[in-house]
Amino acid sequence: MLLVLIYSPILWASAEFFQAGLATQHPLATAAGLAVLREGGNAVDAAYASTMVLSVVEPFNSGLGGGGFLIFWHAEKRQFIALNFRERAPIDFSAEAYQLGDSLVGWKAAGVPGAVAGLEKARQQWGSLSRQRLLQPAIALAEAGFLVDAELARRIGRRQSDLQRDKELQNLFFPNGKALQAGERLTQKALARTLRGLCRQGADYFYRGKVAQAAVKASRRAGGLFSLADFRTHQATEMAVLHLHYQGHDIHTIDLPSSGGLVLFETLNIWRSLHPERREKWSARNMGLMASSMGMAFEDRARYLGDPRFSTVDRDLFLSPERARQKAQRIHLQKRLRKPQGQPTEGHQTSHLVVVDPAGNAVSLTNSLNTSFGAAVAIPGTGVILNNTMDDFSFPDQASNTYGLSGTQANWPEPKKIPLSSMTPTMVTKDGELKFVLGSPGGPRIISSVLLTLVGLLDFDLPLDQVLTHPRFHHQSLAGPLVLEESTSQAAKGVALQKLGFSVKPEAAWGNVQILMRTETGWIGASDPRGQGTSSGF
Ligand code: DON
Repeated sequence: MLLVLIYSPILWASAEFFQAGLATQHPLATAAGLAVLREGGNAVDAAYASTMVLSVVEPFNSGLGGGGFLIFWHAEKRQFIALNFRERAPIDFSAEAYQLGDSLVGWKAAGVPGAVAGLEKARQQWGSLSRQRLLQPAIALAEAGFLVDAELARRIGRRQSDLQRDKELQNLFFPNGKALQAGERLTQKALARTLRGLCRQGADYFYRGKVAQAAVKASRRAGGLFSLADFRTHQATEMAVLHLHYQGHDIHTIDLPSSGGLVLFETLNIWRSLHPERREKWSARNMGLMASSMGMAFEDRARYLGDPRFSTVDRDLFLSPERARQKAQRIHLQKRLRKPQGQPTEGHQTSHLVVVDPAGNAVSLTNSLNTSFGAAVAIPGTGVILNNTMDDFSFPDQASNTYGLSGTQANWPEPKKIPLSSMTPTMVTKDGELKFVLGSPGGPRIISSVLLTLVGLLDFDLPLDQVLTHPRFHHQSLAGPLVLEESTSQAAKGVALQKLGFSVKPEAAWGNVQILMRTETGWIGASDPRGQGTSSGF
């Protein structure tokens, strides 16, 4: 048993291991998953335990009140399976009951949470340890508390006025009326009670028992739309994964209702049709070609994508190499197609983690409340903070959502419909062997963060530390700005890209990629230097 920390001044959050390990966005979540792996738990067990810990220590990013997707590599069956545990619109949703702004703050902003259904389904099907064992670290941290770190303190400060409007959250994050500061202890007794309830009764405690009842009661009182039937009927569902053969590798990623896979693959198909000069790596010209490819794929996202159970989506539009070639022919740097418009800025909320176990099973899992602290309401008495994932829908009378994403009827809200996501849990194989497991938070920038990581590794053959530290860029509409991570090394690139016709907008860092990479002897796990994540293994 040997844990080797790689010496590197920049890739500090990386570890090399032989059999099993994980990377998560928080050291306490990594520790919990590692302990589970050491005890003989598998990748699903570790992902479960770590996700539950994240819901305690990163209450702004993810939790029981959210939802997401995972991809599982079943080593023995040599099979990829995706699980969709995304939130969905309440059965009683009606456009008349909804007003502009309702989708971000308060009870109407929340979709019916899916996280508990997803984790329990994964554990029952593929896990090997008991709920009691897997929930234990999260319960201990909620019960005894943990020391607030700078990030949590900053997030509380930034959402102060919304959080203080909710009595539970006011008491939790503003004891004695003052915002919790870094170094102070946060205990979450109500959440600990809920986690113990899950231990005893499993998902029923959430969807048929105390949590559902409390949620519906509070929602009714506050003018929300939840009903008991919403909770009783919400289930996680298995899905097939999308696959693309790319640069001698096979990329396996998520299908609708996340746009992640389709936008990722269309972008890669357009980009490779442009025959970029790979030796140039991220030259301004290559960045321009990639940004144009992204912009085109994101425009297709806006035009065509939504929950496929509600409208027919032609996936071939996104996957067709011929159509990608035609699109590539329309890209001429220096010739802007349209005048740039503004675009809201957004950051890094949401949790991603990656795990591999000694049998070779792997999990890539994204769980989210959408924006920081979601809807900023808690289900009374439960410590469960609700998502504001309803904002991932497109609304007919609203040009775009908080991430600047627009859409058509395919993504308009309807009862029981799932809002379109950008989550992109991904794995890469070569000749049938698992090579990379990765994902990120970042709203639509999840897709570009995963994309740029893959291109750095597969097209440019760059070492992992260079791939992760390289400044990111993002372009989600041909009519919008090319957003460029602020960095001194990028200033000249920005000028060059402007000359190529882009409206360049520098912005603070985004994304938080967690990644596992197979080596000759085992694995390297790494967490994005932009976040506080860690990786570990044995
Ligand atoms: O599903 C989605 O695409 C979003 N709700 C994810 C939110 C996210 O990553 C927040 N980060 N900025």
